[in-house]
Amino acid sequence: MSTYGTFPGARPRRLRTTPAMRRMVAEHRLHPADLILPAFVREGVSEPVPISAMPGVVQHSRDTLRRAAVEALEAGVSGIMLFGVPEDAKKDAAGTAGTDPDGILQVAIRDVKAEVGDDLVIMSDLCLDEYTDHGHCGVLDSAGRVDNDATLERYAEMAQVQADAGVHVVGPSGMMDGQVGVVRDALDQTGHEDVSILAYTAKYASAFYGPFREAVGSSLQGDRKTYQQDPANARESLRELELDLAEGADMVMVKPALPYLDILAKVAESVDVPVAAYQISGEYAMVEAAAANGWIDRDRAIMETLTGIKRAGANMILTYWATEVARQL
Ligand code: PBG
Repeated sequence: MSTYGTFPGARPRRLRTTPAMRRMVAEHRLHPADLILPAFVREGVSEPVPISAMPGVVQHSRDTLRRAAVEALEAGVSGIMLFGVPEDAKKDAAGTAGTDPDGILQVAIRDVKAEVGDDLVIMSDLCLDEYTDHGHCGVLDSAGRVDNDATLERYAEMAQVQADAGVHVVGPSGMMDGQVGVVRDALDQTGHEDVSILAYTAKYASAFYGPFREAVGSSLQGDRKTYQQDPANARESLRELELDLAEGADMVMVKPALPYLDILAKVAESVDVPVAAYQISGEYAMVEAAAANGWIDRDRAIMETLTGIKRAGANMILTYWATEVARQL
């Protein structure tokens, strides 16, 4: 009997006949422990503030953040990645609120730590854009360019205050050269050898960060193309990867996720450290908007994107749907 005869020689459909069969032969499955919840906490609010470009996601008050952390933990989510949203009046050129021990992110870390202790991995965004009045991820030189090395000094201070507040993992996301090494040194020199670094290894200058600007109340002057990567490049990510590992990254991340699954697969193949992927604000918004219009099946689309990210090689996935999905699994 030949493959080209009357009857096919092979019938892959046999393994798709029933839900039980499909379940048994599934090559990849999501687990709640794969998931990490990114969460925003806004200074000076007593009620959560909805983010219009991310229906279902809010800027938390200190109280609701604590509740969200407990809910994530109860659902089986592994970690929470915290982003601080300071009062507008506290933003300045140097992003001072980011290194204030009583700045909103440090307060949030202490709050969450008091609530969940070590049961949930507490992570923090280590970047200046939430705190600068110009919205860039670093400090500017006299010509208005992001000054790499002056920014590193600010990151070193941020690492220390976040670690002092009790964070387990810092996530330097500014794409400055040398940031992982500087942050590692700063942590080690201040007695925080046990604080891990999740390196934003491949971070692309993406249109899909759009809704995040509203989420952190940031109005960016210009763009981030001189520090985030060009979407046209793949090899460059492997170079960033080598540098991050050499500088001491404990885990590496690819971001955004869906348009960069090829990068994720390459990174996952070439490392022996855990690999994360960040399904970002615009990826979330895209699915929610299409679903709200009745154009796609929301729940299936969410599972399909997350499964695709896992299949491409991610051990951990940061997703705004983390708690919801973990409950369903
Ligand atoms: C930088 C940072 C950004 C995101 C996470 N960390 C924004 C940017 O780099 O432009 C985006 C996350 C998202 O879009 O969900 N602090």
